[in-house]
Amino acid sequence: MKEILDAINAGDTAPDAFGSLALPTEYRAVTVHADETAMFEGVSTREKDPRRSLHLDSVPVPPLGPGEALVAVMASAINYNTVWTSIFEPVPTFAFLRKYGRLSSLTKRHDLPYHVIGSDLAGVVLRTGPGVNRWRPGDEVVAHCLSVELEDAAGHDDTMLDPEQRIWGFETNFGGLAELALVKTNQLMPKPAHLSWEEAACPGLVNSTAYRQLVSKNGAAMKQGDIVLVWGASGGLGSYATQYALNGGAIPVCVVSSPQKADICRAMGAELVVDRTAEGYRFWSDPSTQNPKEWQRFGARIRELTGGEDPDIVFEHPGRETFGASVYVARRGGTVVTCASTSGYLHEYDNRYLWMNLKRIIGSHFANYREAWEANRLVQKGRVHPTLSRTYALAEAGQAAFDVHRNLHQGKVGVLCLAPEEGLGVRDSALRERYRSAIERFRNV
Ligand SMILES: NC(=O)c1ccc[n+]([C@@H]2O[C@H](COP(=O)([O-])OP(=O)(O)OC[C@H]3O[C@@H](n4cnc5c(N)ncnc54)[C@H](OP(=O)(O)O)[C@@H]3O)[C@@H](O)[C@H]2O)c1
Repeated sequence: MKEILDAINAGDTAPDAFGSLALPTEYRAVTVHADETAMFEGVSTREKDPRRSLHLDSVPVPPLGPGEALVAVMASAINYNTVWTSIFEPVPTFAFLRKYGRLSSLTKRHDLPYHVIGSDLAGVVLRTGPGVNRWRPGDEVVAHCLSVELEDAAGHDDTMLDPEQRIWGFETNFGGLAELALVKTNQLMPKPAHLSWEEAACPGLVNSTAYRQLVSKNGAAMKQGDIVLVWGASGGLGSYATQYALNGGAIPVCVVSSPQKADICRAMGAELVVDRTAEGYRFWSDPSTQNPKEWQRFGARIRELTGGEDPDIVFEHPGRETFGASVYVARRGGTVVTCASTSGYLHEYDNRYLWMNLKRIIGSHFANYREAWEANRLVQKGRVHPTLSRTYALAEAGQAAFDVHRNLHQGKVGVLCLAPEEGLGVRDSALRERYRSAIERFRNV
């Protein structure tokens, strides 16, 4: 592994030299264990502690298949799916691995008693499998997390519609929170040259998701002037949704839960911010009864900020706790676009507000390769910036996931894998310098 790291750090190692580097037989990886999936039985969701379930193990390097690449991972990031995996909710991810393993002799590799997790990476291609022409050893890359088989016609308009669509490192094995990762080469994209490894690793999953959800025609197809209500606007998804709204000439109304988070949104350029904690919204009077008066109070606050207008688009992901309010506050003819249910997936809303006011609910999930590529291109060009707040060592991935589970973080939380320290991997210093304050906006707040 040391030779690999030296070759990467040199910055000018030739592709052939990368291709002839000896591969180790084992690598260090963050895992969950199949024999521990019952460890949190009887424990509330909040008390389930990723620090207990995430392990740093030495695991064998998987064999490389056609259309795949083995990547040396310099840095990765925590996603909320890391949290779901580590608390074994809504189901242990081994169910996904077993199902994938039944598909073919090649996918059988994924069905193991341990799951190497992680759905983001920045690193360097070490080997490519048969049939790979576009990528070669030495390429500095980031990987998006869409894994597809594309044997079915259904996936050929929009690859997210492939019946065998999976999220790499969540529904497949050999993910990015590790020193090496196995990806399909149609997950690879160029690493933004002006970013360090940890900065480059953090946008991938959430940036692509926010792009599809808000900008793409497959999502809300946001346009100039739209009022966009962004829940969790300084969080993983929200920090990118806010940037897209601002870049696209829309008007974000950012919802956050503290004055520091409100300040970050303002620093990104948002002018309209709601601190949901300070204003004390209680959309539910008790666990089974919503309070429409609170929806109205929230809607009135939005109108106060916007000069009387309602949101054209509501960027939803908290789910059960907020969904009734989101449907209520969307404007007549407006769109609620949802990609998640952090607070519970059985949503309840008053359908009269939806149908009488001709509103729409759109389901959105990750992004196809093209959408992920377009989202990454904007990062490469310095139009969208990483929202990395802090990084952890690979051995501290449990603590990093704990922070995200407890909502103690801002923006994105990074993890150094092979990178020995922060700040390495910048190849275009001039471009970085131009955008440095925006790139570092979330650091240590
Ligand atoms: N379908 C997909 O492809 C996809 C992709 C990415 C993420 N997701 C899902 O989307 C969700 C959010 O992911 P993320 O990366 O943005 O997580 P995150 O970094 O934790 O940010 C989410 C933000 O939402 C806000 N929030 C949390 N619970 C809330 C509640 N009950 N009411 C109102 N606001 C609440 C919090 O902000 P404040 O406390 O400041 O309000 C939090 O910072 C997760 O469930 C994740 O699994 C889905």
